[in-house]
Amino acid sequence: MPLVTTTEMFKKAYEGGYAIGAFNVNNMEIVQGITEAAKELNSPLVLQVSAGARKYASHTYLMKLVEAALEETNLPLALHLDHGDTFEICKSCIDGGFSSVMIDGSHHSFEENIRLTRQVVEYAHANGAVVEGELGRLAGVEDDVNVSEEDASYTKPEEVEEFVARTGVDSLAIAIGTSHGAFKFKPGQKPQLRFDILEEISRRLPGFPIVLHGASSVVPEYVKMINEYGGAMPDAIGIPEEMLRQAAKMSVCKINIDSDLRLAMTATIRQHLAQHPDHFDPRQYLKPAREEVKKMVAHKIVNVLGSDGKA
Ligand code: G3H
Ligand code: 13P
Ligand code: ZN
Repeated sequence: MPLVTTTEMFKKAYEGGYAIGAFNVNNMEIVQGITEAAKELNSPLVLQVSAGARKYASHTYLMKLVEAALEETNLPLALHLDHGDTFEICKSCIDGGFSSVMIDGSHHSFEENIRLTRQVVEYAHANGAVVEGELGRLAGVEDDVNVSEEDASYTKPEEVEEFVARTGVDSLAIAIGTSHGAFKFKPGQKPQLRFDILEEISRRLPGFPIVLHGASSVVPEYVKMINEYGGAMPDAIGIPEEMLRQAAKMSVCKINIDSDLRLAMTATIRQHLAQHPDHFDPRQYLKPAREEVKKMVAHKIVNVLGSDGKA
């Protein structure tokens, strides 16, 4: 099966009250772990590539890994640029075969965000790709950009209709209290999401797919394992899974997960090397790390996203 866009999968997800997992990929073991889980559970999937991942692994390697996954799984798979910040990178990914791009103009003024997003939409639609835009600003670390809590801002519901109408975007990422990275809330702070904002946005954009970034749960077992086996991670708190499940039942059709993949891999590798100090063949520690990625993604598909059996 060739790559698909997200149009059909979001439509079904919206109507079916579930969400599609969008997992960040950087290397072969991550691609394999994610797609093997999705294959076993017959789940549609978005694989997404950040500018940093593209620089690390190269466009061609990532493209070929995803082509291999398509061949192996025969699943509806979209390949998406995560947090594109210029027209040029979006164009380059579309020209290079991606079926979906995000243009993240959330740090620009409303008018400039509209102009840039519209430019990407025109190019993408003329070339068979779809576009995710963003309104509002998440806190946290993404690529080399660190957005402080003070600079973060919730999406303003009164802006969404105009933004969608004037840009023609296919989906919209919003800020309702999630954030990027492993440190989403301070120790002692109770995780909270602004479901009232999500509801108001959904009311204003009936049937329109909403995207949640920064949606890792920061699985506590992994943080514990990392620290047990020589790591030094401060307290890390993520988004409770039941909140994500609730969002998936609403208008949220795409849920972005990266940090949980990083934690799964790192925790497993640390544990493996601590328990087998004589091992030096990378396959010895990458194999269980890939297995853990698969287990974690399977858990998300069944318990958080609800996308199992929906391919
Ligand atoms: O939202 C950002 C993703 O977690 C990607 O992170 O740019 O370090 O690859 P990265
Ligand atoms: P996390 O850091 O919560 O995994 O978010 C990933 C993300 O939003 C990628 O765009
Ligand atoms: Zn993101």
